[in-house]
Amino acid sequence: MLRINVNGKDRVIQEDLDPEIPLLWVLRDSLNMVGTKFGCGAGFCGACTVHINGQPTRSCQVPAAMVAQQNAKVTTIEGLGGENGALHPLQKVWIDMDVPQCGYCQAGQLMTAAALLKNNGAPSDADIDSAMAGNICRCGTYNRIKAGIKAAAAMAQGGKPAGTRAQGAPKDNDTHAEKEATHERG
Ligand code: FES
Ligand code: FES
Repeated sequence: MLRINVNGKDRVIQEDLDPEIPLLWVLRDSLNMVGTKFGCGAGFCGACTVHINGQPTRSCQVPAAMVAQQNAKVTTIEGLGGENGALHPLQKVWIDMDVPQCGYCQAGQLMTAAALLKNNGAPSDADIDSAMAGNICRCGTYNRIKAGIKAAAAMAQGGKPAGTRAQGAPKDNDTHAEKEATHERG
């Protein structure tokens, strides 16, 4: 049995689980919280990112038993927004600016971006690049992700609301810059 605090609620998993089972699989298979994605399973892609005690963490690399033992607080994409389905500012911007393409990596991208903005309300390009470097997007949405983070930061500081993608987030992911970004980040 495991007891894990997820999105503010204690969740009890009665199954007899392998003690080494990663948090990712407990979230997805035991708790049916499938917003957190399996990408590489090896700590390289960031698709499985959740927050553990506020820190962006790859849930494929953390034993669920350890999370339970430490009484750690887990936040997943399902808990990123507020009560009653309220969206996190980043989620609003992601929709307004049409950031995702296939969407597979985007829960991880959002969780990493949310942790960044919590600690740094006005991140520079370099701050964003550094914070997001470990989150891979096979669709090459890096430019839109960066524009989205900047727009959410501006919104939080009382700036202009997030605009459309025409205000700095190219929709066509075949742009030269995005191809380069995709290439550089493998
Ligand atoms: S699935 Fe966890 S880092 Fe890729
Ligand atoms: S939007 Fe498709 S992998 Fe990122």
